[in-house]
Amino acid sequence: MSYWGGIGNGLLWEYWGTLTPVYIDGITSLLNITYVSVDTKKTYAQILNLPVQSSGSAPPSLAAPPAPQVTPKGFGQDVTNFLSTSQGSMIGLAFARLFQNIGPNIAGAAPGAVVAAQSGPDYPQLLPNYEFSWVRDSALVMSVVQNLYSASTKQGTKKKYEQVLFNYATSRATQQDYPGLQTGLGEPKFYLNQTLFTGPWARPQNDGPALAAITLIEFATQFLAAGGNVSVVQQYIYDSTTFPSTASVQRDLLYTAANWASTSYDLWEEVTSSQFFTRMVQRRALVLGSALATRMGDSATALTLASAVTAINPSFAQFWSASRSSLLYEYGQVLGGKTSYLDTSVILAILHGYADDGFYGPTNEQVLSSALRIATSFISVYPVNNITTDSAGRPLGIAIGRYPEDAYNGTGTQAGGGNPWYLTTAALAEFMYRVSKEYSSAEQIVVSSVSKPFFDFFAPSAKLVTGQTYIQSTKQFRQAINGINGWGDAFVRTIKQYMPASGALSEQFNKKTGQPQGAADLSWSYAALLTAAFARADVQGQTLYVTNLANQGFVSNYDE
Ligand code: NOJ
Ligand code: NOJ
Repeated sequence: MSYWGGIGNGLLWEYWGTLTPVYIDGITSLLNITYVSVDTKKTYAQILNLPVQSSGSAPPSLAAPPAPQVTPKGFGQDVTNFLSTSQGSMIGLAFARLFQNIGPNIAGAAPGAVVAAQSGPDYPQLLPNYEFSWVRDSALVMSVVQNLYSASTKQGTKKKYEQVLFNYATSRATQQDYPGLQTGLGEPKFYLNQTLFTGPWARPQNDGPALAAITLIEFATQFLAAGGNVSVVQQYIYDSTTFPSTASVQRDLLYTAANWASTSYDLWEEVTSSQFFTRMVQRRALVLGSALATRMGDSATALTLASAVTAINPSFAQFWSASRSSLLYEYGQVLGGKTSYLDTSVILAILHGYADDGFYGPTNEQVLSSALRIATSFISVYPVNNITTDSAGRPLGIAIGRYPEDAYNGTGTQAGGGNPWYLTTAALAEFMYRVSKEYSSAEQIVVSSVSKPFFDFFAPSAKLVTGQTYIQSTKQFRQAINGINGWGDAFVRTIKQYMPASGALSEQFNKKTGQPQGAADLSWSYAALLTAAFARADVQGQTLYVTNLANQGFVSNYDE
């Protein structure tokens, strides 16, 4: 908005104006303007009701996705070896390293606290400073611990996972109870001893309370299934009203029910808006939460959560953009330059926010189309994607980042500074496996005009046709599943290709050299590789995979 000139006798009135190219889907009129005057500090509002006139060039039409550079088919023995649960395997290293990032294995950390990465003042690598417990990262890491807990069949080992999870539950209650939270339960990060980080930061981040609740609800469910007492769940997990200093879940759920419609910072901590990711994990928390509340005899909370689910459901339709063939990652303020509207957080939303109830599952046509658009958007922005096979000629997947326009290089921002991340590449692998699993369980693939481009790219040899249904016994079904599994493995192979022999996973790998970059030993990177491996085992029907890994146990300072 700028000063355009004076109007009227003696130039009593000022003429201010603004010009902006508008081809964001569907803006037809400007309804009103509200502004604060810098000198008088007063807020003025004026009704406009002006029709928006299109001028300049037409909106860009959506380009067709590129043709695939490789056509992976089926599972690879190299990936099977890489993910094998035998002692000393790469996945075993990731597993061990994940536990090195959980208190009390971390000096100065509260038991059950997760350090985001081994990067910060107390580590050889000082930058970036990730020596904090992020609510989001911690919940995602603890969700893996929860998987290990529920799969473990060795009593002593299972008990150790249980202890870590109860410690985590307490640490979340400590955070919630901390005096002086600036943005309530949406406070995004804490010091390792769980005291509050008060410096300037992107807050609130409302995915945190939902993710923490999901992890702890799943833990409570497994704990009860293993014969645990309801009263223990009430006191240490669920009932925040009676046990505010130890039980966090009810409070995070009620916060989520009350705040899902408010904007908050996105998971990348960059902009305040309404995000598909945040809303999906909020919905899942509400769905799972209302079931647990019922089980806990808390019908009032169960009702509040169930009505929030009813209210949140219709709000998802607005994220689909037919003209972009994808789910928009957010509504609202857009980070400057983020023009593709594509963000891998939409895939993370499915992985962490799907409530297994048919609402935006992996094989939803809009989700499949988004996955295709997101994955292919990184091909041209990362030079490593020109390398399409490993040294043995096996197909590599696409190295995936947060979003194509990302400027964050792991320590600071610079134009074009973004790189592929291990956790987002792992997310695409896990997504492929989950798509495969869902189709196999459904025993058929239904192809629509919206989902067809997904199959054309990831399973071209199946030559699927819009409007057709392919049942499990058909050749096309098998070819499609082979392509999807093959791509799952190709994404894992990309991680293998750009991962050091030590098994250490940082946050990013350089888009030109493939060398690790950014925060060292990022907990979330390990968590993402592990859950991708779990999803692969699930597709393969390897029911004991997680159990075998879990039973290996982990080293903890408790052992001393
Ligand atoms: C740190 C945030 O955690 C990261 O996600 C962001 O990209 C950078 N700051 C730059 O805003
Ligand atoms: C930056 C990422 O953007 C954010 O999602 C994460 O929580 C922090 N780093 C800590 O890992």
